[in-house]
Amino acid sequence: MVLDAISPLGRRAVLSDTHGRIMRDLRVSVTDRCNFRCLYCLPENEEAANFYRSRFDPVKNPNPLKKIEHVWKSRADLLRFEEIERVVRVAASLGIEKIRVTGGEPLLRNDLEKLIAKLAVIPGVNDLAMTTNGFLFNAKGKALRSAGLRRVSFSLDSLDPRNFRKMTGRDGLSDVLAGIELARSLAFEAVKINAVVIRGMNDHEIESLAEFALEKGVAMRYIEFMPLDSQKVWMRELVVPGREILERLKTRFDLVPIESRNQSETARRWRPRTGGGEIGIIAPVTQPFCGHCNRLRMTADGKIRTCLFSVGEHDIRSLLRDGSSDSKLESRLHEIVGFKEDRHHIGEPEFQQPARSMSCIGG
Ligand code: 5AD
Ligand code: SF4
Repeated sequence: MVLDAISPLGRRAVLSDTHGRIMRDLRVSVTDRCNFRCLYCLPENEEAANFYRSRFDPVKNPNPLKKIEHVWKSRADLLRFEEIERVVRVAASLGIEKIRVTGGEPLLRNDLEKLIAKLAVIPGVNDLAMTTNGFLFNAKGKALRSAGLRRVSFSLDSLDPRNFRKMTGRDGLSDVLAGIELARSLAFEAVKINAVVIRGMNDHEIESLAEFALEKGVAMRYIEFMPLDSQKVWMRELVVPGREILERLKTRFDLVPIESRNQSETARRWRPRTGGGEIGIIAPVTQPFCGHCNRLRMTADGKIRTCLFSVGEHDIRSLLRDGSSDSKLESRLHEIVGFKEDRHHIGEPEFQQPARSMSCIGG
């Protein structure tokens, strides 16, 4: 515990790990359910199966995708809004400043705007964002913005309706595009688009996604495909390295780097020399940024994960439900942060993919 680094909200030790990193960012998953079946997260439809089948050895592995019955968490397993609010309040008193609400698909949680309203007024929370697939955003965008949501990121991997369906398992492109339009009209502090780039799937859309984002004035983020899918079918050959994405974009746009003072940022960013807009590349596989990671994650059932790739997780739900005091919760959070891994080991022989997919972990 670092005692000389004091949380801005009083004389409490901030959440610092054994590698000298101070936690500022908590990602809160509010449900493990999702209404999409993205082929990099919850792949299961025939088109996803065909794609992976074409990449695997058809003799050794004719059916890379198993038929799975999802066992979603029951209502009682999920943290209630009051419980999430309490964790965020305690975490904020220990120096957490940024909260991102995620899923699964967060908009599947009823009355999400009520949670946002609670989180928005917690002292110390100076950034409140959400990552969504956007399918239900039209119904909820206005209420979320009024409740105090500041920034929103949409997952959008393709602008072609057929490819969109292949990648997400749903015919949802027009709803998502309408959601992005709505977000633009609601004066969010930032609207972003996240695209996971998969070789042979949507890499031909890299340029058109950037054109779309630049034209709309929303920030574009390309994300390398990470081994976090529910069926463990990730392959390195499917990763389009961030460098390659950048080279492609540079042949189309005159890009200048955006310098950042925030070392914990996951994206390297560029902007067109003329005109507005911003393009970022998140390359956790080929250019890991673990050294400055200041993030913690909480799953919908109240487990803290110290890394996306952690193989273990730390329960705090029991503390929330057994009458433990806030100070007990504080010391538990300090203890958990002490377990934060120095880095991930993707690509190394001993790498073990986490048991839970992104949908359960929260992006
Ligand atoms: N690799 C990279 N990004 C992923 N996401 C989900 N699964 C993966 C994966 N295997 C992204 C989604 C979303 C965010 C929550 O995480 O596109 O934008
Ligand atoms: Fe796609 Fe996100 Fe749903 Fe996973 S949780 S299937 S990435 S929309």
